[in-house]
Amino acid sequence: MASLLLSMFSALLLAATITGSKTFSTTVKKPYPGHKLEKLTHLHFYLHDIVTADKPTSVVVTTGPTTNSSATAFGMVAIVDDILTVGPEITSGEVGRAQGMFASTDQKEFSLLMVFNFVFTTGKFSGSTFSLYGRNPIMSKVREMPIIGGTGAFRFGKGYAQAKTVTFNITSGNAVVEYNVYVWH
Ligand SMILES: *[C@@H]1O[C@H](CO)[C@@H](O)[C@H](O)[C@H]1NC(C)=O
Ligand SMILES: *[C@@H]1O[C@H](CO)[C@@H](O)[C@H](O)[C@H]1NC(C)=O
Repeated sequence: MASLLLSMFSALLLAATITGSKTFSTTVKKPYPGHKLEKLTHLHFYLHDIVTADKPTSVVVTTGPTTNSSATAFGMVAIVDDILTVGPEITSGEVGRAQGMFASTDQKEFSLLMVFNFVFTTGKFSGSTFSLYGRNPIMSKVREMPIIGGTGAFRFGKGYAQAKTVTFNITSGNAVVEYNVYVWH
């Protein structure tokens, strides 16, 4: 009798263990808290990459042993906190920042690996971010890069960005780049 109870008890214990191991994930049914219909947003702004200034927004943090002799600066890594404005002029009104890093990762053409968070500081997207990760062949007229996620208003974000250089000063290294971004969120 005692041994029967014991085996029943251990069977229960085993069942409880199995059930427990199944509960680390659940399917969340709609409507869940914060649920809203997915929509597509188009964002249009200008990015200012300032290399030469009292307070540069873009700094090279390291280079590789062959970067200086490479035509494409292969191995160079830079950290940026670039200003985003509503128009092409730096005085046109800041809407956010592009914070991240880029690295020269192509030995044949000048192309960058981009790892960026875009954070908005004005309007309905203030405090919200989306993340861009992709390849930026900067000599091409229009470069397309994926948007791979977001926070706040851009939760579940996915989409793409198209970047187009508006001005590039070869002496200072400063550039203004137009961004058109489409995000489902
Ligand atoms: C590359 O050039 C920069 C600037 O001229 C210099 O500071 C740096 O030491 C050089 N790096 C190497 C690995 O030669
Ligand atoms: C390019 O940069 C140089 C060096 O900072 C500056 O003297 C020059 O005025 C700039 N050119 C333009 C068109 O802004």
